[in-house]
Amino acid sequence: MIANLRNLSRLALPRRLASQSYSSSSFLIDQPEYSFLKELGLERENPGVYSGHWQGRGPSVTSYDPGTGQAIATVRQGTVQELEQTIGLAVDAYKQWRKVPAPVRGEIVRQIGDELRKYKEPLGKLVSLEVGKIYSEGQGEVQEFIDICDYAVGLSRIYSGQLINSERADHSILEAWRPLGLVGVISAYNFPNAVFGWNAAIALTTGNSVLWKGAPSTPLVSVATTKIVADVLQRNNLPPVVTLCQGGTDVGQSLVSDKRVNLVSFTGSCQTGRDVGVEVQKRFGKVILELGGNNALIIDESANVKMALDAALFGCIGTSGQRCTTTRRIIVHEKLHDQFVQALVSKYKQLIPKIGHQLEAQTLVGPVHTQQNVENYKKAIEEAKSLGGTVAFGGKVIQRDGFYVEPTVVTGLPHDATVVHRETFAPIVYILKAKNVEQAIEWNNEVEQGLSSAIFTENIGQAFKWIGASGSDCGIVNINTTTNGAEIGGAFGGEKATGGGRESGSDAWKQYCKRATITVNHSGELACAQGVVFNVE
Ligand code: UN1
Repeated sequence: MIANLRNLSRLALPRRLASQSYSSSSFLIDQPEYSFLKELGLERENPGVYSGHWQGRGPSVTSYDPGTGQAIATVRQGTVQELEQTIGLAVDAYKQWRKVPAPVRGEIVRQIGDELRKYKEPLGKLVSLEVGKIYSEGQGEVQEFIDICDYAVGLSRIYSGQLINSERADHSILEAWRPLGLVGVISAYNFPNAVFGWNAAIALTTGNSVLWKGAPSTPLVSVATTKIVADVLQRNNLPPVVTLCQGGTDVGQSLVSDKRVNLVSFTGSCQTGRDVGVEVQKRFGKVILELGGNNALIIDESANVKMALDAALFGCIGTSGQRCTTTRRIIVHEKLHDQFVQALVSKYKQLIPKIGHQLEAQTLVGPVHTQQNVENYKKAIEEAKSLGGTVAFGGKVIQRDGFYVEPTVVTGLPHDATVVHRETFAPIVYILKAKNVEQAIEWNNEVEQGLSSAIFTENIGQAFKWIGASGSDCGIVNINTTTNGAEIGGAFGGEKATGGGRESGSDAWKQYCKRATITVNHSGELACAQGVVFNVE
């Protein structure tokens, strides 16, 4: 399926240098094996701004395949001025869209879901190619977008307010949920399609328009996804209620500080997320922050170890350790610790022949996304060793074209070592030995982040301790399953430095709405609440 994997020594150059040393004829999009990119309407050069029509007058970025380092195609990003125009058009679109009945908006989202079904195969393949995730994970990511569309269609007919009892005779209090206006979505490279999907499907259904800025290193997914959505909008003669402005930091900062963007939904690092939160708060805008995680898997004495090992394998190595929900720490009961490490290492060994290009059929472990991830991996391994950790498996960069590292298990570090408390977006797991579940919970909770967590236990008392008020302090608190791979039906997000936002299912839709509390007096006389008398004859 993938040609030209060999003879690509120049491709080991850092990305920026590589872009300069390539002639345009070596773009993957021009090769017959990559015709699926053309099926998505992509060209060698693509405009990266959509506001009812396509444009892009900013710098051009080249997108690379992390599995080989080869250039795929280019995208011309937007300028700050183009962003500002796009915001204006998206606000105008909102003013029409908010008048469309919610179930009719849901019908449009249903059509988007159907269109995604048609393009699932090539779009999922593009997600794999551009991010570095394996084939089934690329397909799974598009599936998440399809699933949330289905969810949103149902939501469009059932989301509702309530009628509250008034203390005054013949008064009624109503609560209604109204759209906010324009929702800005800034998504990260590791989920370049689904994160936009969760936000867009719910934001559209609740009557908002959407402005998306995808990660600068996954611009082709942004363009291809927007084309699919834009076709549906155009077919239905709708204004651009979904817009796109690919861009760099200047575009991102302008989006965040623009008062016309009523809600900013940001997915990315804790550091940038904090700045985004402060900026948006300065102008009293709303934010949804979905930031880093430092997710622990706890193995209780009573655990079903076979199942826990499988969970650890996908949790630690799936997506080459680049999910916010990746298992970064495994906290094992002291009685099981040594046996668990040994069994996990032997599973890791079986994965070695399955490291490879993300689109090759047998691959389970693809590359990491960029050279920067490789550098962060190396730094974490060095730090772990210098702090007294033992590399029980892996620990090395794999010398081949593209960005490959060995999945790594580190043991023997203190539970509060700096490197253990830091999120490194790479397949490294730290295994810690705990005396009991109480201690494991304490360690689970002592990190800054609070996204995902899981316990393996067959003990009902421990299970309920884990999900209770003194249990895990994360947004996702699983039992006998992985920390990663959440379904769309639940609310997704976490506490503390993870940012506190919730996306996807449950009642996360409320975050895309403003709440109106409406007191209706149908008594024919004015009466003040709390028995206050205030009138003259
Ligand atoms: C992310 O890594 O930003 O729960 C999102 C999961 C996926 C989403 C991850 N459904 O792993």
